[in-house]
Amino acid sequence: MTSQSNLYLLPAGSGAQTSDEGAAPWTDEQGADLVVVANRLPVRHSSSPGDEGWLPSPGGLVSALTSSLQDLNGLWIGWPGAIDHEEPPESYGGIRLKAVNISAEEYEEFYLGFSNATIWPLYHDAIRSPTYHRKWWHTYRNVNMRFAEAIARSVAPGGTVWIHDYQLQLVPQMLRVLRPDVVIGFFFHIPFPPSELFMQLPWRREILTGLLGADLIGFQLHSGASNFSRLARRLTGASGTDSGLTFEGRDIRVGAFPISVDCRLIAEKAADPAIRARAKEIREGLGNPEFLLLGVDRLDYTKGIQQRIKAVSEMLADGTLSAERQVMIQVAVPSRESDAHYEQERHDLERAVGEVNGEYGLVGHPAIHYLHKNLPFDELIALYLAADIMLVTPFRDGMNLVAKEYVMCRSDMTGKLILSEFAGAASELRGAYLVNPHDLDGIKEAILHAMNSGPKETRDRMSRMRRATIRRDVYDWAKGFLSALQQTPHATRLRALEDPSIESTTP
Ligand code: G6P
Repeated sequence: MTSQSNLYLLPAGSGAQTSDEGAAPWTDEQGADLVVVANRLPVRHSSSPGDEGWLPSPGGLVSALTSSLQDLNGLWIGWPGAIDHEEPPESYGGIRLKAVNISAEEYEEFYLGFSNATIWPLYHDAIRSPTYHRKWWHTYRNVNMRFAEAIARSVAPGGTVWIHDYQLQLVPQMLRVLRPDVVIGFFFHIPFPPSELFMQLPWRREILTGLLGADLIGFQLHSGASNFSRLARRLTGASGTDSGLTFEGRDIRVGAFPISVDCRLIAEKAADPAIRARAKEIREGLGNPEFLLLGVDRLDYTKGIQQRIKAVSEMLADGTLSAERQVMIQVAVPSRESDAHYEQERHDLERAVGEVNGEYGLVGHPAIHYLHKNLPFDELIALYLAADIMLVTPFRDGMNLVAKEYVMCRSDMTGKLILSEFAGAASELRGAYLVNPHDLDGIKEAILHAMNSGPKETRDRMSRMRRATIRRDVYDWAKGFLSALQQTPHATRLRALEDPSIESTTP
């Protein structure tokens, strides 16, 4: 990154703050050139005996952003994930961290309430009815402002800020007011809904205006980008197209940036002899079934887990599957457990699994092996290697990285993926058996088709999916977003002010 010291000497009327010293009045002494902001920090606190302390959060996203943060004097701002805990470390794994804390009341109203009981269900096709409470909205606004202030104090003059996901939709505009000199990107990990749903939101204009504070707004799919642009034109007076809007005299880029996984890491792990031996051990432990079906999901009502269990149950009932020859493993990772919808989902799911096993299991042969826990990544890879058929059937999902992880493990071109049409991953993984997750017969037919497909069909489908996944891993995704952000009109203008030999894209 360039030295940013003179970026505060912006022309009169630019709306920016100025300072005689050339230092931002908001900035701590060592402002960061790149600030990543997400509701969660990339570390979590564990109290498990033998594993106490701060541990890295799993996942490719953290690894992908870590390398950019390390290169760019970066900082990650987020919530440490619990209300009463010791302060997180100042840095972890080479990334500087800064915590934004929330109170018990804010946990209820900002996190469980507005984020996860208003926005989450509304943006996932209203699979559960969204709840609208004015008090939750006020708390959401207050917490978003606290994030914006923390960023404003931490980012270097002319620095870059990348804000993530639905919990922080108001932050771009709030930050724009506090720090007009910085470049702001926003990325949605979850779907952005069509106007038929979004129009329900009592604060629809405020949310859109909040997002329009960014210079670049990224979505998983083009449909999210065009839903957003259309709504912004209709409700806020923004003008432009699905890829670029003008709002209050500023140009905003909008586009699709489908996220991916750390392909190389997964491929390395899938080739690791110890993990392969574990996969073999898993199959042997299950009595070497003819087919092993696998589901791995956060325990969330959007994931369609019960529907998939119902499909398997009907196949056990009509004899297409038998507990002796075909086995299913369902991993349900605990999530948002203090929310009533999630508690109910767990209850219903565990009852459904119990009923299937009671009805169709045999001594030593349960039909469905159910795990409600967070598994270590190596164990997940062993499960992906062991499974013949992977079931990913969400009712709606921004992307679904489990599908891509499974594909990256199958270098021998075996393994079949049954994938919901309503997961973002379906737009890339065309070699999957695509299903409508609401159509039970369709899921059953796809399982049957996958079971009966020969090696050529399996190989053709898997190689097609692997080509699509390898084309762009999570590092390419992060680089692609950050480089598009640097090409936005505001970023170009800032660079041109610093170095007049660079031509600005805006007049
Ligand atoms: C989804 C969201 C993330 C969220 C994660 C876990 O992937 O897109 O923003 O962090 O779920 O949910 P949680 O509520 O535990 O943070």
